[in-house]
Amino acid sequence: MNRIKRRILATIATVVLPGMMFAQKPVVLTVQANKPIADVQPTMYGVFFEDINFAADGGIYAELVKNRSFEFYDPQMGWNEVKKDGAKGALLVINQEEVTPNNPRYMRVKKTTDNGSFGIVNEGFRGIGVNKDAEYRFSVFARNVEGAALKIKVQLLNADNTVIGETEVSGLTTEWNKYKATFKSSETVPNAKLSVTVEGKGTLDMDMVSLFPVDTWRGRENGMRKDLVQLLADMKPGFVRFPGGCIVEGHDLAVRYQWKKTVGNVEDRKVIVNRWNTEFKHRPTPDYYQSFGLGFYEYFLLSEDLGAQPLPILNCGMACQFNIGEVVPLDKLDPYIQDALDLVEFANGDVSTKWGALRSQMGHPKPFNLKYLGIGNEQWGEQYVERYKAFAQVLSAKHPEIVLVSGSGPNPDGKEFDYLWGEINKMDDNLKPALVDEHYYRTADWFLKHADRYDSYDRSGPKVFAGEYAGQSDKVVSAKNRNNWKVAIAEAAYLTGMERNADVISMTSYAPLFAHVDAWQWTPDMIWFDNLRSMGTPNYYVQKLFSTNAGTNVLSILNGKNKVIGQDGLYASTVFDKNSNEIIIKLVNVNSTPLEVVVALKGKSAVGEAKWLVMSSDDEASENSLDKPMALSPVEKTLSVTGKTLKLTLGSKSLNVFRVPVK
Ligand code: AHR
Repeated sequence: MNRIKRRILATIATVVLPGMMFAQKPVVLTVQANKPIADVQPTMYGVFFEDINFAADGGIYAELVKNRSFEFYDPQMGWNEVKKDGAKGALLVINQEEVTPNNPRYMRVKKTTDNGSFGIVNEGFRGIGVNKDAEYRFSVFARNVEGAALKIKVQLLNADNTVIGETEVSGLTTEWNKYKATFKSSETVPNAKLSVTVEGKGTLDMDMVSLFPVDTWRGRENGMRKDLVQLLADMKPGFVRFPGGCIVEGHDLAVRYQWKKTVGNVEDRKVIVNRWNTEFKHRPTPDYYQSFGLGFYEYFLLSEDLGAQPLPILNCGMACQFNIGEVVPLDKLDPYIQDALDLVEFANGDVSTKWGALRSQMGHPKPFNLKYLGIGNEQWGEQYVERYKAFAQVLSAKHPEIVLVSGSGPNPDGKEFDYLWGEINKMDDNLKPALVDEHYYRTADWFLKHADRYDSYDRSGPKVFAGEYAGQSDKVVSAKNRNNWKVAIAEAAYLTGMERNADVISMTSYAPLFAHVDAWQWTPDMIWFDNLRSMGTPNYYVQKLFSTNAGTNVLSILNGKNKVIGQDGLYASTVFDKNSNEIIIKLVNVNSTPLEVVVALKGKSAVGEAKWLVMSSDDEASENSLDKPMALSPVEKTLSVTGKTLKLTLGSKSLNVFRVPVK
């Protein structure tokens, strides 16, 4: 090859080859920067909390003792007898239902020798996670039956049964009293145990044996795990939907969620089985119960802490239709509707009212400003319509200020879905829900294909609450589902479709929220944790990117005359943030190659430096782990931007958020 030919080839290589790396010519998009087309509701991006996967007990609720009140089906589940240094004695579970019907059982420890220690040891929720030098608060309700010279020795044990922290409780009286003691752990251990033994000869009754870290979220006793709440706070969610999900419905009505049983003194909240305990044969969880230590008061408090609207969901007189689907006769529905009225009073009522007084007594005289109320979860059929209407009739008359949310069944399409929407649209205005909750657990491809779902929704009907959705890498309810980039980027693409349609969609939330790595029933989940650590999945970071860059007004972003919904492998939405005077452009490139995009701004000009937040991975199987919790998370860059034309290069398989200051 002669020199001239070689030079020509080198020139082609430098000029043409880099260009050939791109899928195609730059895609030109136009943003109508000075013509907002809809408001983004402050509730647009929220969170949905359900006690599934040990999300509450064993999760965000910071109690470290499992079965603290001996109320599980097997009252000694989680507990073992412990005898040391020649001690002798016997354990007896006593049931005094007539005296304390909500918390009937307690443990009697009868020690028949002066020497040694005799008592019980708790295994925690798949172990007890403790940190070196951190403080722990032990508490117990106890009674020294014969008034003998007794003490309680409290010890944290590591996996080798070495004592890594201890304290004692003395001065025990013959009446039931609550005793507390704090102490430190000398080691960091994910799977410690708590030993509670009696010293001296005599009989001690114990109940509500409890251990909390002192350092909970906002330092509250009966508080929440700080790291887990922090992950939620970082999202700045617009609302918190609670407490579920199917848990609201119950396998049968006897174990439905009843908010009144979750407020007041913690020791008076009746423990019941968690419906996820037995739900999946492939993920049995026999030790899954609901202590309700995290109850409605705590959910309201959490919402307030997060600056989020509380959105409680109430049982509408129907048990889960995936289980037995039993219903309450319509003429017996009043107590259920009364629960809704009383909940409004509990949240918003004056302290002189019965339920407002309880809220005040629990520590919150000011109202919680409840605005939204969900009637039922994933119900379907005419039974739901009848029951929803009965609730709406009363609530709209007595509390017109409350925004009602109805369901639309468990699927985003099909006969039941169409039937419910049809019935909702036919309702009189006073009954019609302001929001309809839609759920979709679908594959990544479904999310990509349906990013235009809301483009054609009726603008005059109720607004949509996309209350539960998540991409399934395998299929719904499969234990093989992964929180990988393939599904997370598809959710991001879909979210651009929701954001573009913020005039129809007022609320969205991923589901489920939390999962314990050793105790889950359902996957995928947004945040995973063990006893000491926690991590956001790529799906979490997608959610966080949207919720922390929600803006205030939707702007149109067009590819020629069309909305950008997958053409050239690109999905897009744009909002204006009137508080910061920025245009926020979200671009999702699902191609395996980079994509050049030119954004033409109409009506405003970019000034200065844009913040560019990007998540990308060429490996669709990429995930985060507790060891590498941020492996796939947003990277922040800056981009100099001036004028009306933005030249952007999107990496392959990337979600990009550009915050462009404008004038
Ligand atoms: O999020 C898990 C479950 O999925 C919810 O409880 C239910 O509403 C849906 O079927």
